Amino acid sequence: MKKALITGVTGQDGAYLAELLLGKGYEVYGFFPRRSTDTRWRLQELGIADSIRMVEGDLTDPASVLQAVIKTQPDEMYNLGAQSFVGTSWNQPLFTAHVDGLGVTACLEAIRNVSPSTRFYQASTSEMFGSIQEAHQSETTPFYPRSPYGVAKLYGHWITVNYRESFRLHASSGILFNHESPLRGIEFVTRKVTDAAARIKLGMQDEVRLGNIDAKRDWGYAGDYVEAMWLMLQQEQPDDYVVATGVTTTVREMCRIAFEHVGLDYQAHVVIDPSYFRPAEVDILLGNPAKANRILGWRATTSLDELIAMMVEADLRRLSPSR
Ligand code: NAP
Ligand code: GDD
Repeated sequence: MKKALITGVTGQDGAYLAELLLGKGYEVYGFFPRRSTDTRWRLQELGIADSIRMVEGDLTDPASVLQAVIKTQPDEMYNLGAQSFVGTSWNQPLFTAHVDGLGVTACLEAIRNVSPSTRFYQASTSEMFGSIQEAHQSETTPFYPRSPYGVAKLYGHWITVNYRESFRLHASSGILFNHESPLRGIEFVTRKVTDAAARIKLGMQDEVRLGNIDAKRDWGYAGDYVEAMWLMLQQEQPDDYVVATGVTTTVREMCRIAFEHVGLDYQAHVVIDPSYFRPAEVDILLGNPAKANRILGWRATTSLDELIAMMVEADLRRLSPSR
């Protein structure tokens, strides 16, 4: 039985990845930071909370990362833990750098020193492209991050490449474009909108306040994207891969899809609130997933319409369980 250690197991991707690996017969260890309340709601919604062996630790505490690797001796380690909200990274830039940047080195050092055959996955991001240098962003597109989060993640990406080249670790970096699901955190724009559309439909609120709705994102379904993470670690050679749909859509259009799903016009309910504008914006992201298609045999299978419908329906069910 293969063993996998997942940091960020209580997050959106951690939950779907744990579900995927359990389904493949893995023994799954979840590395999680202590919080004052139980953070396992996603694992509970998927019905897998009791199937994961939890190992307490924090990415900002290298000793705890080392202990987790010594204790579990994983065949595969997926580093999904992060301060993942771009907006917060301007308010907590040093914390973000610590978790999202140095935390990656803590993982790589632990593997290098006590478990060098462990295969490693780093959760890199399309935010690293930031102010885009090519219309379709691929593995060879130059980076230009536009947020403290993007800058920290760029360090995490390059240290992964560096440890692969320096110490011949099987370390891969997945450059994933935005991916969403019913388990998405409520502060991210898709879930904020699907939750609001459901609440407005049920008469629980009247409006939703948003920032820059002209921004464009390449949105896919998280359930599809965790499959790509796993595929990367099954390859003989470690490498870097862009994972994306190859389609980009405005926040505005995403709002239209969500509100139309419940028979409403978004224009009557969306209010622009400048407090949600960011100090520097990523105007557009559009990925070129050709390498992942060719080498991993991976492609996105869920359209934005299907994804948003799935999310609105899940929010309606949460708010009105008798539906
Ligand atoms: P998420 O839902 O915000 O989950 C992040 C996870 O990291 C949570 O379990 C969180 O635990 C944990 N975490 C935070 N600080 C930590 C620390 N100091 N030590 C250990 N764990 C910590 O994020 P996600 O959407 O699943 O994304 C997973 C990863 O992919 C992240 O690294 C993210 O930056 C990256 N990524 C995401 C996307 C996307 O569109 N979703 C795209 C590209 C890359 P708490 O909840 O207890 O804080
Ligand atoms: N969150 C949020 N809230 N975003 C808004 C709002 C709002 O009220 N109004 C407009 N937006 C715009 C943001 O300015 C941004 O251009 C876009 O909607 C998407 O914002 P988020 O959903 O917060 O995602 P993100 O693109 O900043 O970051 C996500 O994707 C990255 C990959 O590109 C996160 O999941 C990151 O962790 C991930 O790396």
